[in-house]
Amino acid sequence: MALINLKDLLLHAKENKYAVGSFNVTNLDLIDTFIDASVEENSPIIMQVAEVHFKYLKLEEIGPTLTNAANKVNIPICIHLDHGQSLKSVLRAIRAGFTSVMYDGSKYPLEENIARTKEVVKIAHSVGVSVEGEIGAVGGEAVGEEAATAHAAQKDLFTKIDEAVRFQQETGVDAMAIAIGNVHGLYKGEPELDFDRLKSISDAAGIPLVLHGGSGISDNDFKKAISLGICKINFYTGITQNAVNNVRQYLEANPGAISYPDMAKKAMDAAKETVKEVMRVFGSSKMCVADKSLCISCDEESCEALDPRFQPEAKTVLYSELVEKISKEVLSQLGKK
Ligand code: 13P
Repeated sequence: MALINLKDLLLHAKENKYAVGSFNVTNLDLIDTFIDASVEENSPIIMQVAEVHFKYLKLEEIGPTLTNAANKVNIPICIHLDHGQSLKSVLRAIRAGFTSVMYDGSKYPLEENIARTKEVVKIAHSVGVSVEGEIGAVGGEAVGEEAATAHAAQKDLFTKIDEAVRFQQETGVDAMAIAIGNVHGLYKGEPELDFDRLKSISDAAGIPLVLHGGSGISDNDFKKAISLGICKINFYTGITQNAVNNVRQYLEANPGAISYPDMAKKAMDAAKETVKEVMRVFGSSKMCVADKSLCISCDEESCEALDPRFQPEAKTVLYSELVEKISKEVLSQLGKK
């Protein structure tokens, strides 16, 4: 079984000092592409669906498709809601089999972000689903044609250390997305990450931290950020950019092409290579391969048995059990009032 929740996955990443790539699924082809990349790299992976992309995919249909695909391989895979904007979206994702949800209350004042996120944590945790929250605001989210506009990080929205600690303690989130100079989509100029701020937040909060807006950040900056506490990196724009560029090259070389599957394959080939490259940079590659020095069953160089230290339990949620558990949770809360 491959499904894992975010908490268990990121604790392994934190302990072993690597980051898990979290890649946005915006069409069906990307599911096999991402899974193939993770199998070829022997890397755990997070496949996420962002609420701003609901116009491309129906959550109730993509959830079971993602979990079925994940269960066919022996690699830990987390299915995650990216930037959920309401409790309703969070519940829809949990019902659709997601093992993790992000609730993004960053547009609200601190108190309200805490109160809303806390509510999500209470419900999600009651059924073993993990929660990522956001403190400070990353910004720059855009879809379709608007994604071609570059954004600069806004210093006044960077995560404040004391607020991050309060947010983490009061909400009980499993992972925290922070703003340290990162933005979604294309960067205006070179990204400048505030590593001192990252270190202070990580030292003070102690939980796995999430870097959104991965596309455009240099390999060195990724490595430094991981060494300072980043355990999950969201990466999407670079994938779609490379996919489109490969299609463009193909069409320029073959102006008479009319085969959609060949064109789609060009896009997915580039997407897969991009994901594999960043997995190597994030240090997640080979995390699912047996450590040869620990392997007692054989000394084959080509042995690709799963690492015995990393065989997570399946964390998928059955709908019938979910309803039962949420009902009990709600009833017990009512009983306390
Ligand atoms: P990029 O598209 O900038 O890589 O960011 C993706 C992301 O952070 C999704 O939440």
